[in-house]
Amino acid sequence: MDDSRKNSKTAAEEKMEGWLRAASALPAHHVVLLLANEVIHNPDAGAKDLEEVLALDPAVAMKVLRLSASAAYGGECAETLLLALMRIGFTAAGDVLKVFSKLQKQGTFSPRAQKVYQDLWAHSVISGLAAREIFRRAGVTNQEMLDKARLAGLLHDMGRLLLLAGAPERHELVIHGNLNGHLGSPARETKVFGFDHQELGRVAGDTWNLGEEMTLVLSAHHKESLPGREFILPNLAHLADWVALKIQDEWQPDLEEPSQASLKALHLDPKELRLSIAAVKHQWKKVVEYLEEATPMEQD
Ligand SMILES: [Fe+2]
Ligand SMILES: [Fe+2]
Repeated sequence: MDDSRKNSKTAAEEKMEGWLRAASALPAHHVVLLLANEVIHNPDAGAKDLEEVLALDPAVAMKVLRLSASAAYGGECAETLLLALMRIGFTAAGDVLKVFSKLQKQGTFSPRAQKVYQDLWAHSVISGLAAREIFRRAGVTNQEMLDKARLAGLLHDMGRLLLLAGAPERHELVIHGNLNGHLGSPARETKVFGFDHQELGRVAGDTWNLGEEMTLVLSAHHKESLPGREFILPNLAHLADWVALKIQDEWQPDLEEPSQASLKALHLDPKELRLSIAAVKHQWKKVVEYLEEATPMEQD
């Protein structure tokens, strides 16, 4: 690589690193936050209970994961949310929740951006459920692997969430602008921002020390399948993304078929992928009911 190209690449990466600050403006789902605080203050609850709740919010889950990867906790990213919570403990997890509660009070998005955030939040949670379901259907029974799959699905579009949190008004153009390509298409983002959510995801994974596999999940879930163990989770995230978009069908009605190479890489029968749509739809319905039941009544 010649020097001028090297310098311009560094400049682009530096620019994207600035976008990572948007993570501090990314809100948590208010009911998930409420439930997580209840778990933290319940003396009978354990890390597994907290993991179940935090698997419903990509922003909080990412913050916990980043903390697990920091030098203060050994400098290596935990493989699952449960392991991250066991490593940092309830006190540090409680501090993370306090930061999100403070942000909640300030309010972050306009009503239009809030709608996009809600759709992206739902997309992330459904993708988490889908990744776990697809892995099960591919014959995986190990609980840690299934937890890892769910986390990969939950976090795969962190780059999109960062673009939204960093520039909600400009992000409007990605969703509503008169541009070619489907709503989540990296090409539309490049037109607006000069880079896409996968490129930003790669910088996030590298900067936040998320490890090779999770960085590839964030940065390669729209790419053609590549051989190698480190691409199992990105292939899974690709298929989970597809299942989630099938369920959120108003979002992308002209959805293309998923990559056959990704199906092959996971030794997954295409029929199983179709069957997983109904199963994930049911699980998502349960999540929505659970959160609705936990929503506090409006006070006059
Ligand atoms: Fe994506
Ligand atoms: Fe996605």
